[in-house]
Amino acid sequence: MEISVVNLKKYYGEKQVLDIEELTIEKGKITGLIGPNGSGKSTLMNIISGIDLDFFGTIRYDGKPLDRSIYMNMTLVFQKPYLFRRRVYENIEYPLKVRGMDKGERIKKVENIIKRFEIEELREKKAHRLSGGESQKVSLARALIFEPKLLLLDEPTSNIDPESIKIMEREILRFNQETKGTVLIVTHNIEQSKRLCHNIIYLENGKVGYLE
Ligand SMILES: Nc1ncnc2c1ncn2[C@@H]1O[C@H](COP(=O)(O)OP(=O)(O)OP(=O)(O)O)[C@@H](O)[C@H]1O
Ligand SMILES: [Mg+2]
Repeated sequence: MEISVVNLKKYYGEKQVLDIEELTIEKGKITGLIGPNGSGKSTLMNIISGIDLDFFGTIRYDGKPLDRSIYMNMTLVFQKPYLFRRRVYENIEYPLKVRGMDKGERIKKVENIIKRFEIEELREKKAHRLSGGESQKVSLARALIFEPKLLLLDEPTSNIDPESIKIMEREILRFNQETKGTVLIVTHNIEQSKRLCHNIIYLENGKVGYLE
């Protein structure tokens, strides 16, 4: 999915936190969003994901304004992941259930992604008892499972150990290559952005500068 942002302005009270004249997120590519704390990265992610509708300007998804079918084809993994108070298994299965996939198909997909993420030992755990890093892994698995056209990741590996980072990066790359899904990823890790991203956007004080 291609995202185009035109004349985006976002205020919290009197304070302007985003001021973006024009920005395009290329279809089928992995784009990194970097910038200092408080520069507006999460705010921009929330707006693109459709959960924050309180802004000025235009955002188009493959040329069209946000509607239900676009909304169902994208997902945001939060900086602080939110999981239901159910088993990990049910959390990962949930996006497939909402989209009406039948049970047999769901089981196959969930088992497959649990194996790929190497989180078999988390399967039966209650999601609210997971550690920060475990929650981030489960949240990424839950996001990838329904193969969204647009995947928004807000610092998905900020609490993750090096071995697990490798797994998560491998799965993000696999997702992008196999499904051609567009990815926008916020990271403070420049090495990670070099490993993963085709394009990098730099945000400072709510304004955009391109690198590379
Ligand atoms: N709900 C809110 N109400 C008021 N101000 C907010 C709110 N959320 C964010 N802000 C302010 O907006 C600015 C941008 O915040 P944002 O969370 O988008 O930054 P960020 O780039 O994601 O930072 P970080 O790297 O720390 O995650 C900050 O100055 C922040 O204090
Ligand atoms: Mg943030």
